[in-house]
Amino acid sequence: MKPFFITTPIYYVNDKPHIGHAYTTIACDIIARYNKLIGNDVFFLTGTDEHGQKVEKAAIQSSLEPKDFVDKMSKNFKDLVPFLNCEINEFIRTTSDKHIKASQSLWKKLFDNKQIYLSNYEGWYSVRDEAFYTENELIKNNEDKFIAPSGANVEWVKEESYFFKLSNWQEKLLNFYYKYPNSIKPKSRYNEVIKFISSGLKDLSISRTTFNWGVPVPNNDKHVMYVWIDALCNYLTSIGYPNEESINFKKFWPGMHIVGKDILRFHAVYWPAFLMAADLQPPTRIFAHGWWTNSGKKISKSIGNIIDPYEIISEYGLDQIRFFLFREVPFGNDGDFSKEAISKRVNADLSNNLGNLVQRVCSFIKKNCNSIILNTSNYDEADNNLINLSIDIFDKYKFHMNEQKIDKSLKEIFELLTATNIYFDKQAPWDLKKINLDRMNTVLFVSIEIIRRSTILLYPIIPESCEKIFNIINIEKKNINYNNYNKIINK
Ligand code: MSP
Repeated sequence: MKPFFITTPIYYVNDKPHIGHAYTTIACDIIARYNKLIGNDVFFLTGTDEHGQKVEKAAIQSSLEPKDFVDKMSKNFKDLVPFLNCEINEFIRTTSDKHIKASQSLWKKLFDNKQIYLSNYEGWYSVRDEAFYTENELIKNNEDKFIAPSGANVEWVKEESYFFKLSNWQEKLLNFYYKYPNSIKPKSRYNEVIKFISSGLKDLSISRTTFNWGVPVPNNDKHVMYVWIDALCNYLTSIGYPNEESINFKKFWPGMHIVGKDILRFHAVYWPAFLMAADLQPPTRIFAHGWWTNSGKKISKSIGNIIDPYEIISEYGLDQIRFFLFREVPFGNDGDFSKEAISKRVNADLSNNLGNLVQRVCSFIKKNCNSIILNTSNYDEADNNLINLSIDIFDKYKFHMNEQKIDKSLKEIFELLTATNIYFDKQAPWDLKKINLDRMNTVLFVSIEIIRRSTILLYPIIPESCEKIFNIINIEKKNINYNNYNKIINK
């Protein structure tokens, strides 16, 4: 079994979870489930990012102590995971003792490796983005005031600060990415990162002194760590860091990070530099996905158009939403969320194609064959064509899934389902019933077999619906894996 480590970003607990958070978590669940089916040993991590000025501000606004506030808010994210039917291995919290220890160990390692020095920071900071900006990155708003490229407010900060020698890593990062061009996906994001690194890297401020809701810097408790140092370290904490000899660490590091496009720079520039500077390997892949808008508008609290995953799922159903999110928009691109688009997609693919096929084939078998069909293995050209198509599609499906092209994998499955619907209509078992029972049996067998294959492929995306189909066609859970995809189960 090949180890496979996959992570979501850890979510800020300043507010409730919304569809953007659900999107990343479901994406990782799909990729994790797929990897389990191909036989890999999977570790799937998610959790919450609980330190920093933004969270501290939110706690003050709700009149709670930061620790009480984050305990309450983190639970909302934790509860969302099973609601989305995501099978995680760990939910990490950055306020946990083990994480505080791990991030302090990472700091010490960087310090011992002479990658950190004390100086003064003077420049722009955005609390909403928890990011430092140079003046030429900023834009002006209608009131001629500087704002971050994300639209967030920025403030001028002047304080003593520790710095990480990021400028030392420009060359090494570029060499790494030239050598491993597939370690950032999609390609357009890879190009963006290369351009950013090539334009020159400045040393990075990595501690703050003007508030104290953070991990204390070892040997200088005037400072707390910059929230991104502590946050990124969560990926290591979960698998046993600082014990680099622990079983999970040896097995699972390095892993794959799925992130939104807004936090690519932190993951693809700062994080690999920290890791290399701490004598650790950079991630195997960073995949940056796009952002959802709501009926054409940016999703934001101030516009009041946030999509609550609980509400939308109770209206449409979980698998319907899991399916819509990954069939509608190529993973990596931006997408627009609208109720019309959900209904259209769900009706066309799930109800009319998949649902209709399962319903027609199974009810025919139940009515006419007492729910029993035997494999005659007496296939004609039409049967062989469909079986061969399912084999071709399996290869294409795996190829796309290995590249996180979930929409393309789904398209392949639905091509197979459409072909099976056409096959079933053309073969017309209702006519064969009157003239050739053997042939009718073969057609039903092939139809059920292709339903079984399609359902195995669909399983990572819509697991609950697939389990229902497996129940109907009498496939046990232990037989749901890709090893027996091409093996015809003789029952
Ligand atoms: N805490 C940091 C991540 C630290 S990882 C070491 C953070 N948290 S976040 O809660 O603000 O965002 C988490 C993820 O949600 C990001 O990947 C972000 O891209 C994603 N999304 C937030 N809004 C989104 C949409 N409207 N659409 C799609 N994803 C979006 O950043």
